[in-house]
Amino acid sequence: MSEATPKAREHWSGSLGFVLAAAGSAIGLGNIWKFPYITGENGGGAFVLVYLLCIAVIGLPVMICEIAIGRRTQRNPVGAFHELSPATSLLAHGIGLAVLLTGASLLLFRVWGWGAVLIAVGLLIFRFGWTLVGFMGVVAGFTILSFYSVVAGWTLGYILEAVTGRLNFTEVAQAKEFFGGFITNPAWAIGCHIAFMLMCIAIVAGGVKKGIERWSKILMPLLLLLLVALIIRALTLPGSTAGVRFYLRPDFSRITAQSVLIALGHAFFSLSLGMGAMITYGSYLSREQNLLSSSFSIVVLDTVIALMAGLAIFPAVFAYGFGPDAGPGLVFQVLPTVFHRMPLGVLWAAIFFLLLLVAALTSAISLLEVVTAYFIDERKWPRSRATWVMGGLITLLGVLCAISVADWSRLEFLHRALVWAFGGVKDSFFDVMDHISSNWLLPLGGFFISLFVGWIWGVKHAVDEIRHGSQNFADVHLISLLAGLKDDPSHNANPHVLTLASLWGIFIRFISPTAVLIAFLHTIGWLDFKPKPPAPPPAASVESAVENP
Ligand code: PHE
Repeated sequence: MSEATPKAREHWSGSLGFVLAAAGSAIGLGNIWKFPYITGENGGGAFVLVYLLCIAVIGLPVMICEIAIGRRTQRNPVGAFHELSPATSLLAHGIGLAVLLTGASLLLFRVWGWGAVLIAVGLLIFRFGWTLVGFMGVVAGFTILSFYSVVAGWTLGYILEAVTGRLNFTEVAQAKEFFGGFITNPAWAIGCHIAFMLMCIAIVAGGVKKGIERWSKILMPLLLLLLVALIIRALTLPGSTAGVRFYLRPDFSRITAQSVLIALGHAFFSLSLGMGAMITYGSYLSREQNLLSSSFSIVVLDTVIALMAGLAIFPAVFAYGFGPDAGPGLVFQVLPTVFHRMPLGVLWAAIFFLLLLVAALTSAISLLEVVTAYFIDERKWPRSRATWVMGGLITLLGVLCAISVADWSRLEFLHRALVWAFGGVKDSFFDVMDHISSNWLLPLGGFFISLFVGWIWGVKHAVDEIRHGSQNFADVHLISLLAGLKDDPSHNANPHVLTLASLWGIFIRFISPTAVLIAFLHTIGWLDFKPKPPAPPPAASVESAVENP
């Protein structure tokens, strides 16, 4: 284990800067677009409770892992894993061998695409060991941002459409048609996507303090303000209580194993876990700051904003007699119709899409920062070059997503190649990027990050790191803490068995990896808890394009 001394590195100006930037990363389209609609589809209040449990039991412990890795190493995810990994790891070699053998047997069965991919991954595991988890994060930064920026571009476009009065739908069907036309119009889709990426690049090029932190300190309060305004508007509409009841009254009969796993997957995406965003932001944290209370604040902020988004949306949706289960179209189709029926609808629609844009922007900069930090730290590129070159490449990949949101017709060649190699592919290039990142890279990243901290780097080293700036964490007896006796020396004198640190260690070593693995196997279809759903109608291509960001 190499103990390189941290180089001079730009840091956040203080805890507040860090917490706001990290909360900015966490709070995004996931909170305002996806959380309300998956809550709507999964029965409301009870789902919210399950989600809260996932956040507390899995999200918070993994968040602490990532920030601890980042602050300890003061490096991007690739450098961080490289620094903390042992020279050889039996576990890594074992996994590498298993992947390699699976790939080889697939080739025997003439499954060429997957066989080749698995063999390549197996070889990479042999070559890079745990450092590969860091590389996965950089790749995820690329793939997530490529489709995330397209959806963010739509919100930008919708602000313009709102203020020019074109979101004047009286029926959801009209809104649906308009949305379909909007996202498949290349000029709009590409133009808005590029404009969004330029904002993102400009902020990240400004650096940690003058770019990311400064903008987070402006944009996060703005976000809160817009959201509060929307909630007040929604709650004061006649008939809004039905929405509040749906949202807050738990009906546990609606909870299935399936919805628990959806909640867990979403907890990861929403907290920006599993791809090194929090490692990277943690690497700009100095050792005096309290890592534990910061992690706690980030998780609470992200959760509170998601809950508030539901409170802005459901009461309004119910007040105008719409259903809560419209799926991904909820915010782009149902809401504009709702706003149009309100007094001053143009204003509320513009405020809502501005809110969505702000949330997306602070998340997107963290995705770009992961990629940028790698090129700055490991390839020694100057920040401006790293940001513009990588931002430019991601923009190009995003253009492919933008033009292929509905189907493959504009990327026929690529489609044929993929079908040849992998048999079938998802509905569109946009879906493929989404699928690779949300269903594969993030869960696998989260799984390996907790495995790494729990079993390779070791809970002991991690706890030593967390201790700096948050003594209570490791050394105060949990019972004394809960009882309000943490400052009484005699209550902390016994051997510290039940401390926050020991509890965290157990979660990280056993509970998080197991839960994440189960969720992962479920998403890729190897575990099926569904009672046997009626065959779904073939999804309209536009709908499926926006399935899960
Ligand atoms: N957490 C962001 C959201 O909720 C998305 C994101 C995922 C950002 C992973 C960075 C890393 O929208």
